[in-house]
Amino acid sequence: MLQFIIQFPTVSNSYQMVSTLLQRSAALSSEGQKLKCPNTLNRMLNSTGKIALVTGASRGIGAAVSHRLAERGVDIVVNYRSKAPRAEAVAETIQRLGRRAVLAQADITQESDVNGMIQIVKDQFSHLDYLILNASGGLEKDKPADYAMMLNLTAQEQLVDRTIPLMQPGGRIVFVTSHLAHFYGQKPVHGLYEPVAASKQAGEQALRRRIPELTDKGISLIVVSGDLIEGTITPKLMERSSPGLIEARREQAGVLPTVEEFARAIAEACVDPARSSGETVFVGSTDWE
Ligand SMILES: NC(=O)c1ccc[n+]([C@@H]2O[C@H](COP(=O)([O-])OP(=O)(O)OC[C@H]3O[C@@H](n4cnc5c(N)ncnc54)[C@H](OP(=O)(O)O)[C@@H]3O)[C@@H](O)[C@H]2O)c1
Repeated sequence: MLQFIIQFPTVSNSYQMVSTLLQRSAALSSEGQKLKCPNTLNRMLNSTGKIALVTGASRGIGAAVSHRLAERGVDIVVNYRSKAPRAEAVAETIQRLGRRAVLAQADITQESDVNGMIQIVKDQFSHLDYLILNASGGLEKDKPADYAMMLNLTAQEQLVDRTIPLMQPGGRIVFVTSHLAHFYGQKPVHGLYEPVAASKQAGEQALRRRIPELTDKGISLIVVSGDLIEGTITPKLMERSSPGLIEARREQAGVLPTVEEFARAIAEACVDPARSSGETVFVGSTDWE
C-alpha cells in the first residue's frame, strides 16, 4: 500500500497559530491598523476539530463531499484506490480551505490496505468523528463475479468494524447509495446495474442491522440515496447497454441532481446533529415505475 501524507498544521500548532494571529490582530487594531491575513485567521477559527474519513474521495461525489466538509471546518482523510494525482488535487483544495488533509491509498477490499489506512488515521489524528462510505463499484470488467458484493457489502462492514474503535460518542457513519439500490426489489433496475443494486442494498441492510450496537456506542448511521447524478460515469456506463436511459429518466424526474447537490446533501447529513440514526435522506425524485 502506498502512503502519501500532506502535512498541514497539527491541532496544537493550529492553536498556537490562532493565538499568535489573535495577538497580532489585537496589537495592530490598537495601532489603528488591520491584520493582512484575516482569511487565515477566519479559517483557523472555522475549525470544528472534527475528522472525517471519506472513501473514494479522489473524484466525483467523494471529492465534492470532501470539499464541502472542509468548508464546514472538518479535517479530511482522503481515501483513494488508484488515482493518486486526483487525490492530491483534492487534498490541495482542502488545504486552500484551511483544513488538514491526509492521503490514504487503500483498496478497501484488501485487508492489508485497510490496515495501512487505519494506521494512518491513528498516527495522524488518533480518532475519527465521521466515516463517509462513498466508494462503490461493481461494473468493472476485470473483477471476479462476486466483486460487487465484496466491495459494496463485505468491505463496507469491515471498514465499520475497523473504524468503530476510533470513534467517540457523537460519531456518525454515512452510507452513500443510489435510489436504484435502496429500492432494489421494489422498483425496476436496468440489467447492467442489477449486481451493484443488489450488493449496495445488502450493504445498506447489513449496516442498518448494526444500529443497536452503534447506538450503544453513541454512533449514528445516516443513509443518503441519490437518483442518477447528472454527468457521472455510472449512468453513462448504463446508457451504453440501454441507449436513451439518461434522457428518459431526466424527463420522468423533471431534473437530475448534480454532483454538487448530492455532495452538499451528504455533507449536511454528516454534520447535522438533528438527524436521527437510521434516517434516509433522498436526493432527487424517487418516482419511477
Ligand atoms: N453516479 C451516480 O449517478 C450515483 C447515483 C446515486 C448514488 N451514487 C453513489 O455515490 C457514490 C459515489 O459515486 P460516483 O459516481 O462518484 O463513483 P465513481 O465516479 O465511480 O467513483 C468511485 C470512487 O470510489 C473509489 N473506489 C472504487 N473502488 C474502490 C475500492 N475497491 N477501494 C477504494 N476506493 C474505491 C474510486 O477510486 P479511484 O478513483 O482511485 O479508482 C472513486 O474515488 C457511490 O456510493 C454511488 O453508489 C452515485
